[in-house]
Amino acid sequence: MSSPVQIAPARGKLGVLLVGLGAVATTTIAGVCAIRKGLAPPIGSLTQMGTIRLGKRTEGRSPKINEFVPLADLNDIVFGGWDIFEEDCYAAARTAGVLENGQLDRVRGELEAIRPMPAVFDQRYVKRLHGPNVKKGKNKRDLAEQVITDIRAFKERHACDRLVMVWTGSTEVYMKEAPVHASVTSFERGLEQSDESIPSSMVYAYAAFREGIPFANAAPNLTADVPAMLELAARTGAPVAGNDMKTGQTLIKTIIAPGLKARLLGVRGWYSTNILGNRDGEVLDDPESFKTKEESKKSALDYIFQPHLYPELYKDLCHVVRINYYPPRGDNKEGWDNIDLIGWLGYPMQLKINFLCRDSILAAPIVVDSALFLDLAKRAGMSGIQEWLSFYFKAPMHAREVYPEHDLFIQLMKLKNTLRHMQGEELITHLGREYYD
Ligand SMILES: NC(=O)c1ccc[n+]([C@@H]2O[C@H](COP(=O)([O-])OP(=O)(O)OC[C@H]3O[C@@H](n4cnc5c(N)ncnc54)[C@H](O)[C@@H]3O)[C@@H](O)[C@H]2O)c1
Repeated sequence: MSSPVQIAPARGKLGVLLVGLGAVATTTIAGVCAIRKGLAPPIGSLTQMGTIRLGKRTEGRSPKINEFVPLADLNDIVFGGWDIFEEDCYAAARTAGVLENGQLDRVRGELEAIRPMPAVFDQRYVKRLHGPNVKKGKNKRDLAEQVITDIRAFKERHACDRLVMVWTGSTEVYMKEAPVHASVTSFERGLEQSDESIPSSMVYAYAAFREGIPFANAAPNLTADVPAMLELAARTGAPVAGNDMKTGQTLIKTIIAPGLKARLLGVRGWYSTNILGNRDGEVLDDPESFKTKEESKKSALDYIFQPHLYPELYKDLCHVVRINYYPPRGDNKEGWDNIDLIGWLGYPMQLKINFLCRDSILAAPIVVDSALFLDLAKRAGMSGIQEWLSFYFKAPMHAREVYPEHDLFIQLMKLKNTLRHMQGEELITHLGREYYD
């Protein structure tokens, strides 16, 4: 057993700043308000409902995670954020159309009190949107300073002890790492010159890291995953996690694929298609934003199947991902997967999955959990990439020298072992010989 990590207590209020107050953000906020009032259960949230086994199976120790590690209480969270639209959170939640009006009305006062701060936005990076609530500045440096001013004012206004920022904004166009992202110095020069390779999301992440605030990226954009950001996060002691929340089809993919691989069943093809009618679907209808999403969605299978180790089973796997914008469905996405399998002696089989899910209902508990765990990491003195939070993301951030872990079950084990490590409990290896010796 190792000694516990020193963790500062979760005293006072935690400000959760959401960039982009759309479907995911408002479902998160309304959900937390409803849960606080005892109106609904926090289903899907590991921090609120999960337990953790400690010690041997014979010890019967399985506390709730939020009793085992000092997490902020939902009652101590204050929400705020930015959006390019001026409507308050109640109106935005009505527009998003995820939660029923009757349910929203029961938390109406709290939602109406949250009004978006003017956004850093440039249509170059999200082509399908256009809104009035946008900051003006002489360059991107100036915009970043304005975001920092917003952050400080929010903290003071709400008497927050600590803050966390989560990008819940739209998916930006596909971008590759550029020379301006190489270091804090080049990045700050780039801000000064309003370099094209700095999208709006990076301006927010930069502001968060300057303030030492934990940052999570719920979308697939290249935002915090560049050397300049990681250098700054290390300097100010800010933890970071991302990218792109693992919900819907990719969640199911990373549940099914590890099972097929465990039994060494081959896969020749995996065809995934979706219909989606919310604003996210509209943004993803733009080919450049779709490319960002596609890259993020496609990487999981390669890493899980390891075709270089199992060429007879997974080499040349045909993996196709489609997202079709279909307004009548709103946030209630429907996904179809067709998996072409091969079994013993090469005989073909098929598996069909039809998932009628609700995108933001799956996403909201992830926003809550990642905010609470990042706040815990900050108080435990853990900065930089938090790989143990891979569990929540489609394209998990990872150290450059290792490949990302996509298998949901390994990710969960990593997450829980990190919590055990923090509290000086024995790590669980599932060896279990001791029961038979
Ligand atoms: N719902 C899910 O299951 C899920 C899963 C993984 C990732 N995501 C990602 O999460 C993000 C949010 O999804 P959503 O369904 O809430 O979308 P949404 O369109 O309802 O909300 C996004 C909001 O971000 C705002 N926005 C865009 N650029 C901004 C900027 N620069 N500053 C401030 N606000 C900005 C938009 O005006 C909009 O209100 C998307 O990128 C989506 O791809 C969602």
